[in-house]
Amino acid sequence: MIDKSVKEACEMIKKSNNTLVLTGAGISTESGIPDFRSPNTGLWEKIDPMEALSTSILLNRPEKFYKKGFKMLLSMSDAKPNKAHIALANMEEMGIIKAVITQNIDNLHQKAGSKYVLEVHGNTRTGSCMMCGKKVDLKILEQKNQNGEIPPKCNSCNGILRPDVVMFGDQLPEDFNTAWNIVNKCELLIVVGSSLTIAPVSYLPQMAPRVIIINLGETSFDRYADVVIKGKAGKVLTKILDELRKEV
Ligand code: APR
Repeated sequence: MIDKSVKEACEMIKKSNNTLVLTGAGISTESGIPDFRSPNTGLWEKIDPMEALSTSILLNRPEKFYKKGFKMLLSMSDAKPNKAHIALANMEEMGIIKAVITQNIDNLHQKAGSKYVLEVHGNTRTGSCMMCGKKVDLKILEQKNQNGEIPPKCNSCNGILRPDVVMFGDQLPEDFNTAWNIVNKCELLIVVGSSLTIAPVSYLPQMAPRVIIINLGETSFDRYADVVIKGKAGKVLTKILDELRKEV
């Protein structure tokens, strides 16, 4: 069953001259990072997202934010890319895909070697000053937090420093506008490991003329997609890559 849909997906990929990939938390579960909405293991079953990662908590109860939400962000820093991230990096190198648009903040696409990555929910490498906009390494926020400077303040203007991660209540970064524009012009979008629950990213598949979905659970776009492969991202993407390599 999977093999038949893998073959269909490969045919579609071969025909496309402009293929993009959209990833979500499901691509990183095989690296040991839990996703948000899988039954029993999803993060939001254990933590209230509005409590852990919201601008309102960051601004009004910074001690709480730095005790919980910030620790969650730091916990991803040792994770290693898995077979799925590596397959996508190889596909980019082979010219099969043009870019990865990711909702993830774990840096694993870059660690795997992907070059063109749009991070539509921000990143865990940097923070910035809410007053003057100065960018700093996220490690500075970590050090200041460890030294009891809560919230951490900007050395230039004394404004509040915050992680460059999109939290509930935030606007999306420029990368999202770029993603919107390139999806508008693509021929094929491959969605990997996202339930496609969170707008506006969940609107992106509607703009692509063809869509392949690789996901363990159901997504909001399954019934409209051209090919839906229910499987683990690492296994499925490796199969697709092996199949495409036979052609080269
Ligand atoms: N392979 C393929 N799919 C997987 C795997 C795997 N190994 N592991 C989990 N999945 C699937 C799950 O079945 C689920 O449908 O990945 C999907 C992950 O969905 P979510 O947990 O909703 O994650 P995501 O879509 O990235 O969430 C979007 O929600 O709270 C926010 O900001 C957060 O960026 C996040 C956004």
